[in-house]
Amino acid sequence: MVPEKIKELLKKNGQEHLTGFCGELGDEERKALFKQIEGIDFEKVTELYKSASSEHTESGGEYCYEPLGYTEKAGLTPDERNELERIGGEIIANGGFAALTMAGGQGTRLGHDGPKGTYDIGLPGHPSLFEIQCSRLAAASAKYGKTIPWYIMTSRENDKATRKFFREHSFFGYPEEDIVFFVQNMLPMVAFDGKIVLDEKGHVKEGADGHGGVFAALKSSGCYDDMKRRGIKWIFIGGIDNVLLKLCDPLFIGFGESSGAKIAAKSLVKRDAKEGVGVFCRRNGKPYVIEYTEISDEMADMRNGDGSFVYGDAHVLCNLFSIEAVAAVIGENSGLPYHVARKKTKFVNEKGETIVPEKPNAYKFEAFIFDAFEMFDDLAILRVDRESEFAPVKNKEGEDSPESARRMYEENLRRNEQR
Ligand code: UTP
Repeated sequence: MVPEKIKELLKKNGQEHLTGFCGELGDEERKALFKQIEGIDFEKVTELYKSASSEHTESGGEYCYEPLGYTEKAGLTPDERNELERIGGEIIANGGFAALTMAGGQGTRLGHDGPKGTYDIGLPGHPSLFEIQCSRLAAASAKYGKTIPWYIMTSRENDKATRKFFREHSFFGYPEEDIVFFVQNMLPMVAFDGKIVLDEKGHVKEGADGHGGVFAALKSSGCYDDMKRRGIKWIFIGGIDNVLLKLCDPLFIGFGESSGAKIAAKSLVKRDAKEGVGVFCRRNGKPYVIEYTEISDEMADMRNGDGSFVYGDAHVLCNLFSIEAVAAVIGENSGLPYHVARKKTKFVNEKGETIVPEKPNAYKFEAFIFDAFEMFDDLAILRVDRESEFAPVKNKEGEDSPESARRMYEENLRRNEQR
């Protein structure tokens, strides 16, 4: 019943349990399971598991951290602003700019049934997060007389539903040929004992491989080649869940272009020493984002003479990559490193019972986009205003929830109307 090829593959990798319940599956379910198994890179998974399970015995290297410089947007003179906007506007009008939305995440904290981009935060007219982004791109395209190509990264889990949503909404009136969907890779979750998790008798538990998976996916999907063919010079890469995200900001594009760096990012000043955000710095001389889980208390609260944080510029997934930078990242054979998270995930045990654990029981592997920064000597940072640019939808309620994002969106709208 189990093809020899699959039997051998599983035996070689000590994962025979994956077909343990094949006898109980229908033909279709069985076929789907075999297809899933054939898509797994077992060598990679074994390597990741080994490094995850030995993480506590590794000695962390000695790193030298320094602050990374930044430009404060509010400190630019009107002439400087105009000039940056002119430079950025020219790039957009000449078809040298594309936007990329990473929408492959699982949105576990929000708990919405469907892709996060389909979520409605309750604004008048009930636009989804996708529609909010699309309207911004449509407005910029109209202003510069050039449709901005929009690349949308999905995952195998939400790709079908995402495309269906766009079709059902007639692509929100955006030219269909300028919206390009591409799918990121997934990696199976691995239980602490090294066994790949079956979450159903005929289904392997897989998760999207993190927003850092964007580069591998750009390469394997042919989107990078599509960008080259279109003559794109700069690509804005952001998430789907910030309702104030400016996907096409001419000033920022002009800032990237005139900085001399191959990558640029917007930052916000972190709210307090303990805010759960990664902050920009230099590590051993290279641009780096140190995660809030990695930063020492002392470094997190280190102050300048005027009381401001030394490491206060938060990374909020607002990145601008030149096409040369994307080429450099995807040209690296090793790709970005994977980080390990310990998660709770339901699983089918050897007796065929479904167990919902109360404690973390498995590793999930994710690459982070900012790990690409270290490959470059420089990263140009534009420090912007939180109130105008950052209203994330992460949690069901409370902080960073649909309600807080709606409030910030509306306040921002009011401020702009008063100007
Ligand atoms: P988050 O890391 O906040 O994850 O993603 P999430 O999936 O939205 O939510 P949780 O953590 O499961 O609750 C930030 C952005 O990166 C994208 C997300 O779609 C979001 O736009 N992302 C994240 C991907 O595109 N792929 C991934 O594998 C992870």
